[in-house]
Amino acid sequence: MSSQFDIIHKDAAGRIGKLTTPHGVVETPTVMPVINPNIQTIKPSEMREFGAEILITNSYIIYRKDELREKALKDGLHALLDFDGPLMTDSGSFQLSVYGEVEVTNEMIIDFQQKIGTDIGVPLDIPTHPDVSYEKAKEDMDITIQRLKEARELVKGDMLLAGPVQGAIYKDLREECARELSEIGFDVYPFGAVVPLMESYRYADLVDVIASAKKGLDPTAPVHLFGAGHPMMFALAVALGCDLFDSAAYALYAKDRRYITSRGTYHVDKLKYLPCSCPVCMTHTAEELKTAHNCTELLARHNLYVTFEEVREVKQAIWEGNLLELVEQRCRAHPRMLEALKQMYTYSPWMEECDPSSKSTFFYCGPESAKRPEVLRFNRQLERFTIEGSALIRTYPTKRDSDYDNVLIFKPPFGSYPQELAEVYPFNAEIVRTPDYESLESAYENTIRLVELNPNAKFTFLMQDKLGHPLVEKLEKMDNFTVVSSQKE
Ligand code: GUN
Ligand code: ZN
Repeated sequence: MSSQFDIIHKDAAGRIGKLTTPHGVVETPTVMPVINPNIQTIKPSEMREFGAEILITNSYIIYRKDELREKALKDGLHALLDFDGPLMTDSGSFQLSVYGEVEVTNEMIIDFQQKIGTDIGVPLDIPTHPDVSYEKAKEDMDITIQRLKEARELVKGDMLLAGPVQGAIYKDLREECARELSEIGFDVYPFGAVVPLMESYRYADLVDVIASAKKGLDPTAPVHLFGAGHPMMFALAVALGCDLFDSAAYALYAKDRRYITSRGTYHVDKLKYLPCSCPVCMTHTAEELKTAHNCTELLARHNLYVTFEEVREVKQAIWEGNLLELVEQRCRAHPRMLEALKQMYTYSPWMEECDPSSKSTFFYCGPESAKRPEVLRFNRQLERFTIEGSALIRTYPTKRDSDYDNVLIFKPPFGSYPQELAEVYPFNAEIVRTPDYESLESAYENTIRLVELNPNAKFTFLMQDKLGHPLVEKLEKMDNFTVVSSQKE
């Protein structure tokens, strides 16, 4: 079977898609709850109640335990787990990264995954730790690519095959790896070895890894962020083009008595209230939850509910075209996430290529919004705004402008644009009343560019006192530009 991934809606580099597997179609973005074949806090057959459409388990754990291996070979993986929907299996690579070795070869584990009837199989890639030397990262990456080539040739049936992108934190390696894997052709592209980055809150590095790997891939290929399960970072990762996540976090956090929210994590013993409306939180007080004999299971359930709540929140945001607003909100929950937001906007030129041009309303959420792809796009579109004759640039709307051939509106963070477009996205932006430095800077730069592009037009900038800025001096020096300070009429 050839893979099929249909993109049905887009926002920034994020998308809602449909991935077809032998056991059904999965709507992305989504999270695959991790099933431990040995211990099941929550049964796979219950997972649909939380919103799960696809699960992930580990074929290496099954392979190593006689009882599990025999049953999986005899009855199939779906019977073993008692789940008839799509299943992905990992290969033992994670164990390889933790213990340094595994008792299986790439060929054996690919063969085993095919025999037990998994929907998406994973070769034995090498999850290279982010902090190794460039040479080591390249060496590991080359072995990974070799193994993936081998796996590609071994897969004969309808199992989809994942091609994990490695390369540590080296952007050129991530991009090169992605490009080489694209040429071989896989059905899903997981971005590997990012768990250590997330564990140490290195979200800005994570942004670099995702963006570089994405650049090497066909933009329409489905992407899985391996080991990412905290809902706080879904919006960010989806905006950068990730489609699948996997969560062991729901169970691991529960074991540590931690309660997940889309804004971060609480230790259950610190909770006085339960800030959630899931079935667990509506039927327990914080005190009851803490002291329940099955506290771990209850926490795992709550953690799963909020995980899928965030998935739906992200999908709705894509649907409405305000994913970046959601990302900006989520990234304000943690200082290291704010760093990641700023890092993400260094990739605005690339995101702008993926971003559909017409959405609902542009909400200015803070200085970072001045770096959004829409602002960059406006800068590029300026070349098309030919201004003939005289133009008045206003910082606020009014009617009496008949002395001028053209009326432009100056609106941070965009700049000066024709009044006729005032109701059109993104100029219909909701912005804060007192623009901040970044939004003004962006607006002035775009205005300077507009003036440069139209040397024959005469501009008059009717400026309110409050908008004073060093960049105005630059404008004043331009021959065809006059700044008139005005009191509000
Ligand atoms: N689980 C978390 N990270 C990885 C990775 O890089 N490769 C594989 N196969 N599994 C993982
Ligand atoms: Zn809850």
